[in-house]
Amino acid sequence: MKPLLEISHLTLAVGRAGREIVRDVSLSIAPGEFVGIVGESGSGKTQAARAIMGLTPLPLVRTAGSITFEGAEITSASSERLRELRGARIGMVFQEPMTSLNPSMPIGRQLDEGLALHRPQLTPAQRLEMALAMLERVGIADPQGTLVAWPHEFSGGMRQRMMLASVMLLEPALLIADEPTTALDAVIQRDVLELMVSLTR
Ligand SMILES: Nc1ncnc2c1ncn2[C@@H]1O[C@H](COP(=O)(O)OP(=O)(O)OP(=O)(O)O)[C@@H](O)[C@H]1O
Ligand SMILES: [Mg+2]
Repeated sequence: MKPLLEISHLTLAVGRAGREIVRDVSLSIAPGEFVGIVGESGSGKTQAARAIMGLTPLPLVRTAGSITFEGAEITSASSERLRELRGARIGMVFQEPMTSLNPSMPIGRQLDEGLALHRPQLTPAQRLEMALAMLERVGIADPQGTLVAWPHEFSGGMRQRMMLASVMLLEPALLIADEPTTALDAVIQRDVLELMVSLTR
């Protein structure tokens, strides 16, 4: 099968001539495939993942290598194209859901925002129906009540589920998860991982 994502010889450094923090990384991910990246703290996992979304923060720069997604080069994509890809085609889940959920917006509006932006053909009623169904799929007991609730009203595991819900609502072709369960206790970790696998399938 043609790879969905192909990273070849990616090298990131602190400035053009600085210390290399990701060196000569190559990997390929096919549709439906799960790939895990393991490495000690500081080995460059997060920055490698961010590079896939064109989110390499200064002073870090890519000094070598290429990243193609669905056959097109990402490293030379316009910022407009990158914005399109993020969320709609590539979803990302982080370790700390509070940094991705907006604390000043009810859950329902956050779920609706992505859909309204990326699926303009849907009516508000259809978006609402999809949000409720997704909350139910990620194991939220009271989807209706959750829509009007705020992120801080939920436990860490619940927030992580809501983040997954908001990302999976857009049905991204690629889901990048950067230690999405590190902040959770062991039992919830397993639940969230199993949920991710089943949503991906
Ligand atoms: N803005 C920056 N300026 C300079 N160095 C940076 C910057 N951001 C990250 N680094 C360095 O890049 C390296 C890789 O960091 P990264 O966060 O990708 O590691 P990681 O493998 O995700 O670690 P962890 O498991 O702790 O999350 C680290 O050595 C870090 O010090
Ligand atoms: Mg990291």
